[in-house]
Amino acid sequence: MKHALVIGGSSGIGKALAARLVAAGFRVVITGRRETLLLEIQATCPEQYLIKSHDVTDLSSCESLFQWVKEQVNTLDLVVYSSGIATFNNLLDWEKEQPTLQTNVMAAAKIYGLAYQLFEAQGYGHLVGISSIASIRGNRYVAAYNASKAFQASYLESLWMKGKRAKAAIDVTDIQPGFVDTAMALGPTFWMADVSKAAAQIYRAIKRKKRKAYITRRWALIALVLKIVPASLLKRYL
Ligand SMILES: NC(=O)c1ccc[n+]([C@@H]2O[C@H](COP(=O)([O-])OP(=O)(O)OC[C@H]3O[C@@H](n4cnc5c(N)ncnc54)[C@H](OP(=O)(O)O)[C@@H]3O)[C@@H](O)[C@H]2O)c1
Repeated sequence: MKHALVIGGSSGIGKALAARLVAAGFRVVITGRRETLLLEIQATCPEQYLIKSHDVTDLSSCESLFQWVKEQVNTLDLVVYSSGIATFNNLLDWEKEQPTLQTNVMAAAKIYGLAYQLFEAQGYGHLVGISSIASIRGNRYVAAYNASKAFQASYLESLWMKGKRAKAAIDVTDIQPGFVDTAMALGPTFWMADVSKAAAQIYRAIKRKKRKAYITRRWALIALVLKIVPASLLKRYL
């Protein structure tokens, strides 16, 4: 049986992807701060879900989390980092910027690093990060969020290069969603994907060991446009 760790598996994309992995036969460890949600998910399939209540911003506890997971499942085929927060912050209020940076930058780098080191030690593994289409350009309303996603995308690309250059059996996938219908999406907008559809496409990208995948796939078009539009024009919209 294959084993996966989904950090930020208590809701949204992480929860839906964990369910997809369980359906595919994985035993999945899910984490998040909201233990009640984790317990509810575990109750749906107690043999295949393991749960751990954990706050990723407590960086020193991330090592003990990995230690605990290793004790439970021995080997890990897949680590998914789905934890993330986004806050509109037009006023650049530091009280809002800081938690975004702690979760999406510091904790992301800590978990990516721990996963990569674990895979190096065991000789194989697949790291999946959920960055965003927002990684491509800035946005005046969510500066910390977009910058944090650019950080994640760049870090994941670095780890992908590292694995390939070492000819290691380590895969790295950067998932870049557009809008997915979760609590984070903050209401209806265009091209909003159902979370189960998003999870199905993410699972397919994982199986194909893709380096990068836009979710849903049509967001590749938006990515293309975002990459070429000058900031002087983009500032009217973002
Ligand atoms: N929804 C979208 O449109 C969209 C688009 C692009 C990218 N994304 C990215 O997709 C990822 C998942 O977001 P989502 O849409 O599924 O939103 P969500 O439903 O709000 O899920 C966020 C997850 O992050 C976890 N989390 C947040 N802070 C944490 C902390 N300090 N420690 C541990 N876990 C923490 C939450 O668990 P607890 O609250 O239980 O801790 C939850 O499981 C995020 O990285 C987000 O940036 C989402």
